[in-house]
Amino acid sequence: MENYSNFNITYPSVHPGTDVTQIEFHTETPDLRQFFLPEENNPQKRCFVTDATVATLPYMQTFVSQFDDGRCGSDLLIILGSGEPYKTIESVLSIVETALENGFSRNDLFVGIGGGVICDLTGFAASLYKRGAAVQFVPTTLLSMVDASIGGKTGCDFKSYKNMIGSFFPAQKICYFPEFISTLSEAQFRSGLAEAFKTALLYDAELYDMFRTKSSQILSREPETICTIIQKCSKAKAEVVEKDFTEKNIRKHLNLGHTFGHALETLAGLGTVTHGDAVAWGIGRAVSLSAKLDFCKESYKDEVLHILSLYGWDINPVPKIASGGGISERLIQIMHKDKKNKSDKISIVLQRGLTDTFTQEVEDGDILPILR
Ligand SMILES: NC(=O)c1ccc[n+]([C@@H]2O[C@H](COP(=O)([O-])OP(=O)(O)OC[C@H]3O[C@@H](n4cnc5c(N)ncnc54)[C@H](O)[C@@H]3O)[C@@H](O)[C@H]2O)c1
Repeated sequence: MENYSNFNITYPSVHPGTDVTQIEFHTETPDLRQFFLPEENNPQKRCFVTDATVATLPYMQTFVSQFDDGRCGSDLLIILGSGEPYKTIESVLSIVETALENGFSRNDLFVGIGGGVICDLTGFAASLYKRGAAVQFVPTTLLSMVDASIGGKTGCDFKSYKNMIGSFFPAQKICYFPEFISTLSEAQFRSGLAEAFKTALLYDAELYDMFRTKSSQILSREPETICTIIQKCSKAKAEVVEKDFTEKNIRKHLNLGHTFGHALETLAGLGTVTHGDAVAWGIGRAVSLSAKLDFCKESYKDEVLHILSLYGWDINPVPKIASGGGISERLIQIMHKDKKNKSDKISIVLQRGLTDTFTQEVEDGDILPILR
C-alpha cells in the first residue's frame, strides 16, 4: 500500500494591481484633455471610463469632445449610466468587452473618472481583465476623494446586495482635483461629508473639531476647508490601508456606521438613499449602541448626534426614508446577511469614545431598542 501524505503549496504573496499608489493633488481647475494628452512614443492604450453625468460637466467638455464614437487614436472612452443602479456586473463586463474588442492587452491602462461607483467598477474591470491590468482614478465626488478611490477595494452590487462581488486591486495613481466638488449636488456633497465625518471619529480629533465648529465653512464648500478635509481623510485612509490592506483587523473600523447604513440602503432600495446619508444614519445608530452597551459616555453619543444633525443627517432611530411596519426587524434581518459576520451574531464597529474604536459581535436583542 502506497504511503499518502498531506502537503501544502506555498506562493509568493500577491499584490494585484500594483504595490504602490501614487497620490497627486491638483489645485488648478481640472483640464483633463491637457492632463491626459497622449505621451509621445507611449505605446500604452488607455480605456477611460466615466458616467453620463460626469461626461457632461463643464470641466469635461474639451476632453470628451476629442472622442469620436468613443475613440481617440488608440484611446477609448466608455460612458456608463450614472449612479448606484449601474453598479452592476453588466457594467463591469461592458468595460471588459469594449477593451477586448479594441485589442487591449494586460499592459494597457484603465482610467476611472467619476464617483465611487465608477472607481469601483473600473477597478474591478481592470482587476479581471486578462488577470489584471493597471488602473488609475480621477475621483470627482467628495465621497470618492475621501474614501472610495483609496485602498484597492473594487466591485459591484449583485441581486440588490451591495458590493457582493469584487476584488482587492489598488490603483497605480489617484489624481485629486478638489474643484470637481463645486458642481456636486447638495445631496452628493453631504453624502461625501458623511464619510469624512466618519474618518474624523475614527482617526482625527482635529478634523472632528472642524466638523463641530466650522459647519458654515464646510457646508458652503469653502475651497480651503474642503481641501483640508480631502487631504486629512485621504492620508488617514492611506495609513490604515498600508497597515491592513486586506481588512484582517484595523481596516474593519472603516465600516463604522456601514452595517446599519448598508441595511438601510438595501431596505430603501439601492440608489434611493445616498451611500453617505445611509452611513451617517448608521454612525448615529452605532454610537447610540455603543452608549447603550456602556462602551462610551452618553455625552459623547449626544455630541455626535448633535453634529450629525448640524449637517442635516437623519438621527432618528427609525430612518425617515423607510416606511411600513416591522422596519427594525427587517433592518436586522438584512444586517445578518452582512459579509463581515462570522457567526449568527451581527458584527458591528463600535466606539469607546473619539478615535477609540473596536469591533463587537452583538445580539439582536441589544440592537432592536436603538432601532425603535
Ligand atoms: N471602494 C471603496 O473603498 C468604497 C468606499 C466607500 C464607498 N464606495 C462606493 O462608492 C459608491 C458611492 O460613491 P459616490 O457617492 O461617489 O456615488 P456615484 O459614483 O454614484 O456619484 C454620485 C452621483 O454624482 C455624480 N457626479 C460625480 N461627480 C460629479 C461632479 N463633480 N459634479 C456633479 N455630479 C457628479 C455621478 O454621476 C452620480 O450621479 C458606492 O457604490 C459605495 O459602495 C466604495
